[in-house]
Amino acid sequence: MTRVIGVIGGKGGIGKTTLVSNLSCALAALGQNVVAIDTNMTTPNLGLHLGLHLSPQSLHDVLKGRAKMHEAMYPHPGGFKVVPASMAVDDLQGVDIGKLPAAVMTLYGKTDFVILDCGAGLGREALSSIKTADEILLITNPDLPSVADALKTVKIVEDSEKKILGVVLNRVRGSSHELTVEQVEKMLGYRVVSQVPDDRVVPKAISMKVPIFLHDPHSPAAVEFNRLAHMLVGKHFAHKPRSKFGVMGMLINWVSR
Ligand SMILES: Nc1ncnc2c1ncn2[C@@H]1O[C@H](COP(=O)(O)OP(=O)(O)O)[C@@H](O)[C@H]1O
Ligand SMILES: [Mg+2]
Repeated sequence: MTRVIGVIGGKGGIGKTTLVSNLSCALAALGQNVVAIDTNMTTPNLGLHLGLHLSPQSLHDVLKGRAKMHEAMYPHPGGFKVVPASMAVDDLQGVDIGKLPAAVMTLYGKTDFVILDCGAGLGREALSSIKTADEILLITNPDLPSVADALKTVKIVEDSEKKILGVVLNRVRGSSHELTVEQVEKMLGYRVVSQVPDDRVVPKAISMKVPIFLHDPHSPAAVEFNRLAHMLVGKHFAHKPRSKFGVMGMLINWVSR
């Protein structure tokens, strides 16, 4: 069965693309077939996060009827496939975002997961992504503007009768001015299923165009992305911390198993 999950939050810059690239990677590491699609047609970033921004075909070509979905799909070293969107402004001409659900439909039965990186705001683009998805992962930062935008998204998703899997709280620092998990759950009416820490390795990994899950799998954010992927496939997650003592530590760990 193919699960089409939309990652959406309303506000820009909250971590949607970071979540999509890392979740796809973590699911692939669990043996799942995954296709990540950049459905943010006007300001696409997924290709940039993954070093696939110069790919010759894109979702734009698919939605213009110039390419089939599999022709715009590129393998990533993380073991999943990516359909990037074009970065060129000219490519927006003649794109019919209304064709997105039908284009994604061609993937049903061919992959375990389709993860949609949705655009910011709640314009036609984001609405088409919601329409295309079967399940929604809401993402927000623990601040009032982000949660207010997420709440609007919730209302629209609820009207569309899609299943909301829960809330991913991204860039959690634990500082006193942040909204707490309880406050976010009360405002949005859905459970926080993941708290991704604000991790300084994330921007570093993005600058290298590598998901943090591959760049530094033991970093706090990568561990949380991995935990979320386990949750989505119903697998128990047991994190094995990085050894502090190099080879010696590995030896001690091995002997004490
Ligand atoms: N968990 C995190 N820790 C630190 N920085 C993060 C984290 N998640 C995202 N960021 C930073 O926030 C910026 C925006 O993230 P991005 O995934 O592009 O957001 P969106 O797709 O919602 O616009 C990125 O440049 C990244 O450096
Ligand atoms: Mg983005």
